[in-house]
This record gives sequence, structure tokens and C-alpha cells, in this order.
Amino acid sequence: MVALYQPMLKPAGAGAMTDPFGRAIRYLRVSVTDRCDFRCLYCMTEETTFLPRRDLLTLEELDRLCTLFIGLGVRRLRITGGEPLVRRGVMTLFRALGRHLESGALEELTLTTNGSQLARHAAGLAAIGVRRVNVSLDSLDPARFRALTRRGDLAQVLEGIAAARAAGLKVKINAVALKGLNEDEIEPLMVWAHGEGHDLTLIETMPMGEVDGDRTDHYLPLDQVRARLAARYRLEDIAHRTGGPARYVRVAETGGRLGFITPMTHNFCEACNRVRLTCTGTLYMCLGQEDAADLRTPLRHSEGDEAVRAAIVAAIARKPKGHDFVIARNARPAVGRPMSLTGG
Ligand code: 5AD
Ligand code: SF4
Repeated sequence: MVALYQPMLKPAGAGAMTDPFGRAIRYLRVSVTDRCDFRCLYCMTEETTFLPRRDLLTLEELDRLCTLFIGLGVRRLRITGGEPLVRRGVMTLFRALGRHLESGALEELTLTTNGSQLARHAAGLAAIGVRRVNVSLDSLDPARFRALTRRGDLAQVLEGIAAARAAGLKVKINAVALKGLNEDEIEPLMVWAHGEGHDLTLIETMPMGEVDGDRTDHYLPLDQVRARLAARYRLEDIAHRTGGPARYVRVAETGGRLGFITPMTHNFCEACNRVRLTCTGTLYMCLGQEDAADLRTPLRHSEGDEAVRAAIVAAIARKPKGHDFVIARNARPAVGRPMSLTGG
């Protein structure tokens, strides 16, 4: 059981969570494990070695850190991984964090998942106060899905999505657009998602972490995808925002929303309101930069919260302006760590 750790009700000092570029940090993404039951081609190698369990923050420590961030002004929390639902006891953490929804300190608690364990957890998540989930799904063809994830079972993921919907959760589908791998499926994915009442967001592959082969081979700029879709559908720009980097259109023929996350072709950092915490307590201020702050040491070596709070505030004060992703043949990844460590 996670001890319910209450933040001091002391205001954090105006602007403590405002970065040097005037961006107020209101959004924390927390990777609760680097482990995953899939091995997506663009995310990991087949032989990925995961962190030793002793390096992970405990559920209590994760709760304590999240609570501190909320005390400092974070209003939205997203639990990610790896695959967050494979972390043992993760529902205990969700339940503990749910108290901040009840108190009104937190506006939103969400997660990003590959869907493999969602059928078991959907109702529990909804009961805690989770309202939406992002499910990663790059193909609707079972054989291709297995190949892309190197082991995933499409039927299981679809069951998870159905369970989420049945539990009243709003589902957003995330698909990474991959040249030669799923580009022919983007339209069917859209038609399916919109038919089921889900938004679909397309993502450009980013140079993060080691993969087998060259990522450049599968890089697909989304302006191409958009142009192809625009030849067959009426795409109307809409102002809808979820607080993230996606830009949305309404597809007139399906009535659904389609989002584009384009870290490679358009830099979207100006409005960035987020930071990312790994399962070892490292805080990354930018997805595409190496600079990080260790929060585990002050967390474990001080009784009170002052040292951790100071470390968080100091880290926000050096949040960089943006990422410098470039995708080039044979180039080293922009950052060495995979998405599964930092959290998508
Ligand atoms: N580039 C783009 N998207 C990625 N994801 C994982 N690795 C990468 C990458 N290198 C996606 C997952 C999931 C989300 C969390 O990030 O497919 O949808
Ligand atoms: Fe797992 Fe997500 Fe990485 Fe795929 S992209 S291996 S589902 S963490």
C-alpha cells in the first residue's frame, strides 16, 4: 500500500515552475518502468536490456515525487513507460494519485499504453478518475502488428481498446507513420479509428535510442501523409488542442479528428509546458536533449522535501528552448535513450 503522502500546503512561490522562456510547466509525464512486453522496431532492439529493478523508484517514491510536482503547480499527469501497465502494483500508484483528482489539485490523470494489459485494467482506471487513455497502435493487420512489435497480439490490444471504451474512457489512438511498414495503412487506420469514435494522432519517428537497422529507411514526413490524405478527404484545420504538440484537423467525410505530431518537420517547442520523469528519478526537461536532473539522490538522502523541491525548481530554470532533432543516414540518435526510458 502506498503511504498517502500529503504535500505541504505552502505556495511554491510565484513563477517557480516557469522556465527561462516564460513557459509555465503544468504537465508531468512519468515513466514508471522502462520494461515493455513489446519490442517495436523503431523503439528498441530485439536484445534490449532493461534496468535492474533495484534502480527503479518504488511506488511510494513515485507517489512522493508526483505529489511534490503537484504541490509546485503541475496540473496534468501522464503515466507512461515502457509499458506502464506491466509495472507490478501500478494500480496502487494510480489509486494513490487519484486522491489529487478528488482534491482538485490535479485536473487530469492519464496514461499512454500499448493496450496489451488494458482489458484487465480499464474499469479500475475509470473508477480512479482516469478519463482518457492514449493507445499506441501502428497496424490493424495481425501479422504486420506482430512483426512491427516483434511479439504483440493485435486481438489482445483491440480487446483492451474495447474494454476502455466500455468503461467510459475516451481513447486516442497514436500511430507512428513508417515508410514501407505501415504507410499504406494510415488511411484504413483513420477510417477504423473514426468509425469507432476515437481520435487518431500520427507521429513522425524520432531519432531516440538504438534500433536494429537504420531508422532513416522508415522515416516518413507527415506533410507527405497529409498531402496524400488531402487528395481523398477534406481536412479542415481546427483549433482543438490537447495541451500537447499535436495539430488537429477534422476529416469532413468521417467526422473524426486527426492529429499530426511533427517533431521532425516542424519544431513545436515554443508552447512546451511539460517535463519528463524517468522510473529512476531522472528529470528530463526536454525529450530531445541530454540535460537532466537527478531527483532520486535528494529524494533518498533527505528527510524533508526542501532538497527535492529545490532540485526541481533549479531544473526548470534550465529547461532548454527546444530539441534539435535531425534524421540523417548513419547518424547517431539525437539522444541515446529510447522513448521507453523517458516516456512518450
Ligand atoms: N519516434 C516516434 N515515436 C515513438 N514512439 C516510441 N518510440 C518512438 C520514436 N523513436 C511512440 C510509441 C507511442 C508513443 C509513446 O511514442 O509508438 O505511440
Ligand atoms: Fe513498448 Fe511503446 Fe516501445 Fe513499442 S514503442 S516497444 S509498445 S515502449
